[in-house]
Amino acid sequence: MKQANFRYAPVLPFRANPITMGRHIHLIKQLFNNNMTRRLLIAGNWKMNLTLSASLELADGLKQAASSVADVDIAVCPPSIYVQPVAASLKGSNIGVGAQNIYFEKEGAFTGEISAAMLKDVGCQYVILGHSERRNILGESSELVNLKTHAALVAGLTPIVCVGELLKEREAGTTEQVVRRQFDGSFSGISAEDMKKCVIAYEPVWAIGTGKVATPDQAEEVHAAIRKMIEKNYNKEVADVVRIQYGGSVNDKNAKEILAKPNVDGALVGGASLKVELFMGIVRPV
Ligand code: 13P
Repeated sequence: MKQANFRYAPVLPFRANPITMGRHIHLIKQLFNNNMTRRLLIAGNWKMNLTLSASLELADGLKQAASSVADVDIAVCPPSIYVQPVAASLKGSNIGVGAQNIYFEKEGAFTGEISAAMLKDVGCQYVILGHSERRNILGESSELVNLKTHAALVAGLTPIVCVGELLKEREAGTTEQVVRRQFDGSFSGISAEDMKKCVIAYEPVWAIGTGKVATPDQAEEVHAAIRKMIEKNYNKEVADVVRIQYGGSVNDKNAKEILAKPNVDGALVGGASLKVELFMGIVRPV
């Protein structure tokens, strides 16, 4: 049986009979030592889209459609102004809510900014940090992403920290160097215990919104490299628990193969997260 099937069906495919159990122990251990401890996290990044009523309609549709999903973590990240109403409407459901950005200061004279604590206060659980659109359009550096990562953790938000190379960097063969620079910069000074709470999203910039998805092997190669970076900077225990999502043109057709890769622990979805059926087709790919 393929590993992917285990990840969607954590109930082991045999009876817990003490006589036959022994024969399967090595298999159970192997499963738990690999990625059985990492639940998939499928998160929708709504970016700067939708109105209030469309956001609530989408949240409601997802709430109904995902109500029976128990083995995958699901989150939606609406524009900041819709975080509170969406969080209120999803309260008590199995869908978490995230923001797309924060400012790193706690409070004060920072016109136009929103703190991590404010988002936490209105029911937010996750925050996407260092998305390539913020890095490349708004000029965010890894140093700034690092300050925000610290601030998110202090406030009790789960940071989803994005890394990923530009097309010209991939073509120049510098993907791993670029990702390592972003990784080292964004997680500087984060303790091992805090690192375990973080999620990393590998989003090759050339795959975002282009319909040009990375192949499952391309994604796995970088995800495995990122896991090695975690192990090098921390240790294997930390590396084994940090979830690494893939993002970039994920849809209901390509999700299954990408999510089947051992180091891919979920998806950060843009365009396809704006429609209930498409997003659910990634949560439950067939
Ligand atoms: P698309 O899924 O639209 O390519 O966007 C990916 C993304 O940027 C998610 O954060």
